[in-house]
Amino acid sequence: MLRNCVLTMLMIICGFAARADNHATDAAAEDSDTSTVEHVVDLEAAEKIFRKSCRACHGNKAQGAASYPKLSDKTPEYIAEKLKIYRSGEKIGPNSILMISHAKKLSDEDIANISVYVATAFD
Ligand code: HEC
Repeated sequence: MLRNCVLTMLMIICGFAARADNHATDAAAEDSDTSTVEHVVDLEAAEKIFRKSCRACHGNKAQGAASYPKLSDKTPEYIAEKLKIYRSGEKIGPNSILMISHAKKLSDEDIANISVYVATAFD
């Protein structure tokens, strides 16, 4: 009787441990998904962000003007890297303060989407 009980307890504990393990590997897989090209790009979402928060400065076609840099000739990797730097609050050029406040509102997913959109939509 006691032995059965201990066995059952062991099985339950092992079951939990196995589930926790699975969960950990799932989470790791999800993390790496967002940082690779396997991310499914949502260009519609990106267009909305661009119209609302970027084009006033960078131009209708991300062509830039005066001290607002052109974005349409950059690669998605370049744009994403810059946005992450601005989001962290770090400065790049003399007018970074304008970008930092905008970049802070962007999620990882927003950045992945907008980077591809800006680099490809105006070719
Ligand atoms: C208020 C005007 C303004 C808005 C709005 C704005 N930007 Fe910028 N952006 C700038 C300026 C100015 C710079 C150059 C900043 C510097 O000196 O570091 C810049 C730089 C950048 C850079 C780096 C370009 C390079 O060649 O290094 C990227 C990428 C960028 N912006 C993307 C965006 C995106 C995406 C949005 C919308 C979410 C956006 N910006 C909204 C003004 C703006």
